[in-house]
Amino acid sequence: MQVETNPDVSWVVELGAVEERLGRAAVVEASGERRLFQHLARQHRAEGRTNYIEIDAPLELYALARLLTPLHVVEVGVSSGVSSAYLLQALDRNGKGTLHSIDLPKLPSPRPAGTQSTDASWSIPAGRQSGWAVPFALRKRWDLRLGNKRDLLPLFGKELPRIDLFVYDVPHDDAESWKEFRGLSPLLHPGGVAIADHGPGGGLCLALRKWARQHHAAPARRAGLGLYGFRCR
Ligand SMILES: C[S@@+](CC[C@H](N)C(=O)[O-])C[C@H]1O[C@@H](n2cnc3c(N)ncnc32)[C@H](O)[C@@H]1O
Repeated sequence: MQVETNPDVSWVVELGAVEERLGRAAVVEASGERRLFQHLARQHRAEGRTNYIEIDAPLELYALARLLTPLHVVEVGVSSGVSSAYLLQALDRNGKGTLHSIDLPKLPSPRPAGTQSTDASWSIPAGRQSGWAVPFALRKRWDLRLGNKRDLLPLFGKELPRIDLFVYDVPHDDAESWKEFRGLSPLLHPGGVAIADHGPGGGLCLALRKWARQHHAAPARRAGLGLYGFRCR
């Protein structure tokens, strides 16, 4: 776990459509969630992981969830649960809202005793499940579904009345993502926010660009990261 040292307040202000002082206050509140950070760091240490994959902007996600007071947050890509935990903490503070998460867990490969692990940094430690680091106390607002986004995302299109905040932190390709985004379009409404991560230094994908255009918006980049989001008009 890395402490996020330089959160992008302007990005929060733009996506949240709030005054600077409100955006800043939400980010400051997120930075103050030290018990949550310490819990996650402790869980990671207990599994002996130093380079576990996680979103690079958990504080901005928290701040947006506080400012938008969403009823339905959809997240794709959970891994150990860093982004999920920050979103759930914000919903808990709001006193309302559900986080609907999808993850296809990467299981660790069996290896002979005494040999070095070659598992990906997002693989699940033995005996654990996606979101394993999330505090139990925060799970009451969590609808976690395990499986391929290709199969599970379309179900949200039928089950949820709306999506207020969408976070897509998963390897993706344009054709498949566009199909998924298009299917969820009727659930996005003016003021709803959609975010996709494209990896460190990654460029904006065509699918998110098209989705933003469909909702009369332009994607904004989180400074220094391959993370883009738009606010529907
Ligand atoms: C970058 S990690 C998510 C990190 C997480 N958001 C965080 O901040 O801790 C991507 C996750 O997506 C999962 N994944 C990969 N392909 C997937 C798919 N087709 N459907 C659902 N999840 C998938 C991976 O196993 C991994 O857990």
